[in-house]
Amino acid sequence: MKPSNHNTEKVDATTRNLEKHRREIDRIDEKLLELMNRRLAIAKEIGKIKEHHKAAVIDTTRESHVIQRLFSLNQDGLLTQKALFQIFTAIIAASRGIQQVPFQTPSAKLLPSIFAVIGNPVSHSLSPMMHTSAFEVVGYNGLYLPLEVDDIGLAVSGLKALKFKGASITIPHKVSVMDFLDETDDMARKIKAVNTIVNRNGRLVGYNTDCSGAIRALSAKTTIKDKDVTVIGAGGAARAIGFGVKSEGGRLTIVNRSKENGEKLARDLDAAFIPLAEVHQLSCDILINTTSVGMTPHIDDIPLSKELLDNHMVVMDIVYNPLNTRLLSEAGKIGCTTVDGASMFIYQGAEQFELWTNIKAPVAIMKLAVLAALDERDKTGG
Ligand code: ATR
Repeated sequence: MKPSNHNTEKVDATTRNLEKHRREIDRIDEKLLELMNRRLAIAKEIGKIKEHHKAAVIDTTRESHVIQRLFSLNQDGLLTQKALFQIFTAIIAASRGIQQVPFQTPSAKLLPSIFAVIGNPVSHSLSPMMHTSAFEVVGYNGLYLPLEVDDIGLAVSGLKALKFKGASITIPHKVSVMDFLDETDDMARKIKAVNTIVNRNGRLVGYNTDCSGAIRALSAKTTIKDKDVTVIGAGGAARAIGFGVKSEGGRLTIVNRSKENGEKLARDLDAAFIPLAEVHQLSCDILINTTSVGMTPHIDDIPLSKELLDNHMVVMDIVYNPLNTRLLSEAGKIGCTTVDGASMFIYQGAEQFELWTNIKAPVAIMKLAVLAALDERDKTGG
């Protein structure tokens, strides 16, 4: 059947409209390309000036300020913070490429060093975005993949066979992975959990950066030595953090729902123990929640009554989904210093990055990557 005149006109109008929009997009793309090249030309000049004055060419603080400023300008835009972050880390990487000689040897540049986060589930892990951004901004030829794994023994053999340079290990494999490694670092052995694997010339060595990550996050806000520290929970995270607190000279108390788990951890760490149900007052300087209480979707839950908080306390939560948990929000309201779960996550990742690459981690950029990913998750409800 022949289309009627009316229909043909409608199709023509739609086509014209589409073409008009496409021409506009083409013009915008040309403009963007021109602007990016202008930006690179200026970056090249800056590189020369820095070189002339023998100043460091790489400046991750400046780079993170650039992105942070754009985040605040992009509050109501259609562009998500995550997309904005990805575009600008690519631009920053391009600027670096023309400013400096890559630090990796040409042969290392040919094949990427491969890394993975191994766990189950891993689809929501923020590690791939955090590490990929870090590789990109420092110009490291790395590839980081999320791998959903059930059989950890087979996976470790696979890492070795495929010459992975390293891996992050997450729930539920942090303890069981230890049986399959060639070596385990002292600290990880004491904590009895590994969250990082480094391939050292074919030997897979296990480390624990959860502990040092938590201590770095806490130490950014307070000192630990001689402080009374209460840790809520007695799982793997509590063990790693409790161990770190003891190593830093803090006085540790474990508070836990089940008596059995709590008493066991307290015994292992030479700490005091109080059952959660028997906590009627808190006399501590630092309070750390290591349980999943308050995590999405149960965002109104709090691990213990808000009446027990006192404004002189530093309150830390390892939950980062949401970032401002009910516990941190109540603590913030009465004037406590707070440490959110993203900080520990970022610092444990920064330590992994340094173990794998021997390059100082671009912590500020890694933080922005995590915040951008969390922002996207908030908006899409994912
Ligand atoms: P991870 O290894 O990640 O730290 P885990 O081993 O599952 O996680 O440990 C979770 C901790 O949170 C446990 O100490 C658990 O208390 P129990 O030992 O009594 O099981 C604690 N926890 C989990 N959900 C809780 C809740 N709703 N209230 C209080 N404590 C809770």
